[in-house]
Amino acid sequence: MSAKSEQVSPTAYATGYFWYRHGLSHPALATPQGKRLDRGFRLLIGAAKALSGISLEALMLARHRGIDALLTQAIEDGRVGQVIEIAAGLSPRGWAFANRYGKKLTYLETDLPQMAATKRRLLDDAKLLSKQHRVLDLNALRSEGPDSLAAIAATLDPRLGTAIITEGLMNYLSPAQARFVWSEIATTLKQFPQGLYLADAYLMNEQRSAGMAAFGAALQVFVRGRMHVHYRTEPEAISTLKAAGFDTVAMHRAADLPVNRDIASTRGADRVRILEARTCPSHAGFP
Ligand SMILES: C[S@@+](CC[C@H](N)C(=O)[O-])C[C@H]1O[C@@H](n2cnc3c(N)ncnc32)[C@H](O)[C@@H]1O
Repeated sequence: MSAKSEQVSPTAYATGYFWYRHGLSHPALATPQGKRLDRGFRLLIGAAKALSGISLEALMLARHRGIDALLTQAIEDGRVGQVIEIAAGLSPRGWAFANRYGKKLTYLETDLPQMAATKRRLLDDAKLLSKQHRVLDLNALRSEGPDSLAAIAATLDPRLGTAIITEGLMNYLSPAQARFVWSEIATTLKQFPQGLYLADAYLMNEQRSAGMAAFGAALQVFVRGRMHVHYRTEPEAISTLKAAGFDTVAMHRAADLPVNRDIASTRGADRVRILEARTCPSHAGFP
């Protein structure tokens, strides 16, 4: 399966700078290009807020912190000892988790070759990489070859619980591409004793507003491509993910997670869900 998705990379520079501006990242990941693009992003965010009162800053923070919180819980519970982040862009998550867990966690950050090379160089120059924390080329739309998810997962320890993360990727993919990626992720995770997929997710019935429509339209111009909201309702999301091969699926309201308490009542935080899908056969503790 192929896609012209390299154009999504500019948003990775912008979001990379956004995480830095909010105190979540390392200066090594704050690029001049990101700073420039973030200025444009702030204009978009300001326009969406003026139109609808919805804070896209709150949405982004809620999704990022929500994924971090569920990953932290899985690691602390001993369910996850290794992570593959797909389309990591210039996100700080790999650095932050590698820093926090050291040798207890293997964290593979991945992206398309150009973005992966950039991130590898930035982290390497700042001496932030290690055997446990690496940046690899991965094209989520490949089913085989060295840059496929299957090939990269095959390098991991098959005895350890494993998490796969996507953040800010799925909405750039067509419905057919998204189904392909979810099914590759589920198939891959089933090879491990516990499998966890975390992602940001959006429901069509929670996005209806002039501000969100304007932001979506502007973002599509920014990335020169269409964006897709993959599910209308929560039950539809759950059945889509189950059809892709996941055993249990939860769609947490990001605003309800304790980590987002400070922004829970800010409009925008309520527009994003955190998808937690598991392939573990034992569901102890699953909400
Ligand atoms: C919006 S950015 C999100 C980056 C990061 N996850 C974050 O939240 O800051 C989207 C990323 O998807 C990557 N991407 C696009 N198509 C991809 C594909 N087919 N396989 C892997 N990564 C892809 C882009 O290179 C870019 O880094």
